[in-house]
This record gives sequence, structure tokens and C-alpha cells, in this order.
Amino acid sequence: MKILVIGSGGREHALAWKLAASPRVQRVYVAPGNGGTARDRRMVNVAVSGNEALADFAVAEGIALTVVGPEAPLAAGVVDAFRARGLRIFGPTKAAAQLESSKDFAKAFMKRHGIPTADYGTFTDAAAARAYVDARGAPIVIKADGLAAGKGVVVASSVAEAHAAIDSMLVDNRMGAAGARVVIEDFLEGEEASFIVMSDGRNALALATSQDHKRLRDGDEGPNTGGMGAYSPAPVVTPELHARVLREIIQPTIDGMAADGIVYTGFLYAGLMIGRDGRPRTLEFNCRMGDPETQPILMRMKSDLLGLIEHALAGTLDRAEVGWDRRTALGVVIAAAGYPDEPRKGDAIERLPADTEDCVVFHAGTQLRDGKLVTSGGRVLCVTALGDSVHLAQKRAYEAIAQVRFDGMQFRRDIGHRALKSRG
Ligand code: AMP
Ligand code: GLY
Repeated sequence: MKILVIGSGGREHALAWKLAASPRVQRVYVAPGNGGTARDRRMVNVAVSGNEALADFAVAEGIALTVVGPEAPLAAGVVDAFRARGLRIFGPTKAAAQLESSKDFAKAFMKRHGIPTADYGTFTDAAAARAYVDARGAPIVIKADGLAAGKGVVVASSVAEAHAAIDSMLVDNRMGAAGARVVIEDFLEGEEASFIVMSDGRNALALATSQDHKRLRDGDEGPNTGGMGAYSPAPVVTPELHARVLREIIQPTIDGMAADGIVYTGFLYAGLMIGRDGRPRTLEFNCRMGDPETQPILMRMKSDLLGLIEHALAGTLDRAEVGWDRRTALGVVIAAAGYPDEPRKGDAIERLPADTEDCVVFHAGTQLRDGKLVTSGGRVLCVTALGDSVHLAQKRAYEAIAQVRFDGMQFRRDIGHRALKSRG
């Protein structure tokens, strides 16, 4: 069977890697892919983009199933385009992807269906937004309504900072159309966790729990990024909390979407804040898997991902079973010089360790140029290792990283620190 994976990041390399391991998969095409997928003999990069061109490619190549990695093609309706042509594709439709592509849509949806989340207001008028902030006080969170590649959220610790964020989005149009409308929500305290499921429109199958590290520097300092590392499982998600998240957040979301006439199929990612009271609240929805959460999650997945996706497409996820490696998986992102503001491209990458059973280097911003690997994006690699404890997984990942060389490489040295604190 031939599979197509859409995207070019570490998440897509991990999806292609896992799908290629299925005994029924002959080849995985990746559009457009990266240097890592280019080097793997089971994968083929294809320079195709745009809904119709991708669907044309799927028809011409006889692709049996397409899996979409990132949010942008989902929000652009790639699933609708494939389905209109009778092609099998796993992901939410454009309407369903609004859970991620419009924060206002997501907040209104959650309020309507009683799904726990922070109180909020939505504004297009700066004066009204400022007045709302003045009335609520700080800390407070300002979010661009649309897709902003992880840069649309400002956690303001003062009213002045909140005003500045409002002005930058609504007056100076710094985020373009994505920031022409803002959601302002109460600041929530607690610990974050990523909760990712597969949905067939009716049933949810929870994937292993995970947690990522969004800040650039050690100790969770510095600017927000797409994620500098992640691990699975996330000890913060106890079995009780797991059941609660499914009952109070995930299932009501899938049911609520269906009740609203927008059946949700695909991966669904709820970004959670676990309060001191133990109550999970939703910070955001993503209509895809997380990057870099996917890398450690798929390293631990023992089941055939293709079989799970087939269950999801058939509406039989309630009958699917998924097995997980008991070990911890931990992935450390190595980013390019200048990330996240202005990542430098074209640095030669050297001394990549060979993949082993318990350590895999997933590529993101890499490219093969004349047979040589060079950097081509902000997050370059995600070195992901398995170990019998968080500590051992961490040790193995950092040993592998110690070999890698490219100019300006930056990575955090403390990925997994919260899990280490809770159980070592
Ligand atoms: P989002 O893209 O909505 O998940 O926001 C990005 C990051 O901003 C989250 O991972 C949190 O660290 C932080 N954040 C978002 N919303 C809130 C909130 N209501 N309270 C506290 N922190 C938040
Ligand atoms: N790592 C966060 C995300 O994928 O949205």
C-alpha cells in the first residue's frame, strides 16, 4: 500500500517513520518532506502542494491513504478536497479544523457545550478590548483569533503589557488577518499537559500522554517556541485525571461537534492546564498531532498506526486497541541559530548518530543539498530516545546530541525536568 503524508516537520517525519514500519506499507510519499525523509529508502519526497495538486498526485500514484500533519492544509480544506474526489484521507474537514483555526470559534464552542475553559471576551475594537482588560486586571492572556504559528499568544503580566499586545494586533496589524480579531481570556494557573486522541467522529482513542517545553531556554525561560522538546508519558496526567479529561473535555468535544453538524475525524489535541484544584481546563485545541509531542508518542506506540487510522476512518475506534512501550520516550529539539525570530539556514549538519531501537533522530528543518545535510528551518532535529526511566531516556538523548554538530545549534539541557521532579 502507498501512503502520502502531508507536511515537512519532525511530526511528519515521525508519522512517515511509523507508517513505513507497517508490514502493509510499501512506500510513504511525503509532500514536501525534509532531509530525513529524503534519506530514508522507504520514503520519497514529492514537491507537490495545494489541495488539488495533492489530490491529483494521490490519484496518479494510486495512494491508498493520506495523513495530514500540520494545521495549515487542514484549515485550507485539503480533507474536503480529497473526500470530494473519493480519496481516503485522515484529518478534520475545514469546518472541523476551526477548533484550531479560530480561537473565537473554539471558545464559543466550549462555552456552548459546557467544556471547561477560561472565561473570555472576543474583540475587533481596540478600545473595547482595552476596557475589558482594565475591568478584568492582570495577568491576562491576549490571543490572535487565527493561525499564527505559535506566535499569537501573549501572556500579559500587567495591564500595560496587555494593552500593548492589543494595539500590536488590532491597531498595528502585526499579525495580519490572524490578529484582526482577538480573544482575551483569564490567566489560568497550574501545570500544562498535551492530551491527544484519534477521533472517528463518535469515539475517541487516547494516545499516550505527553508534555512539551514551549520556552526557548532552560528553566522555561525565554520566548515561546513551537516546542523545544517533549516526553511521554506525562506523569501529571494520573489515571484519574486521564478519565476525567476524556469525560469532561474530549468526549463532549466530539459529541458537541457532531451535535453542531460538524463531525470531527482526525487527531484532536487538547492543550490543558491542570489547576491546583486538580481540574483540567482547555487552553486550546489543535486539529492535528503536536510537534514535538508526536516524536516521543510514536516512539512508544507498539501498534500499527495504519490499522488505527483505518479504524478511525471506518468509525470503529471503539474496537481498536493500542499498545504502548512501558518505557519513557524523550525528545530534545535542536534548533538553528536565530530561532525562533530569524532562524539561519544553510549550515552543514555533521556527525548524526545512526538510528537505533532506542534512539531515533527525527528531522524537521533539514534539507539534502548535493547529498549533504544542511539546516533549512527553525527547529532542525528532534533526537528522541527511550529509557526505563525519565532519567535514562534523557541521558540517552543527550548522549546522542553530544555527537551532532552544526554552527549555531541551540537546544535545552533540561527537557523532562518536570517529570524528573515528579518521579525521576
Ligand atoms: P495556546 O496556543 O492557546 O495554547 O497558548 C500558548 C501558550 O500560552 C500555552 O501553552 C500556555 O503556556 C499559555 N497560555 C495560553 N492560554 C493561557 C491561559 N488562559 N492562562 C495561562 N497561560 C495560557
Ligand atoms: N508542541 C505544541 C504544538 O504542537 O502545538
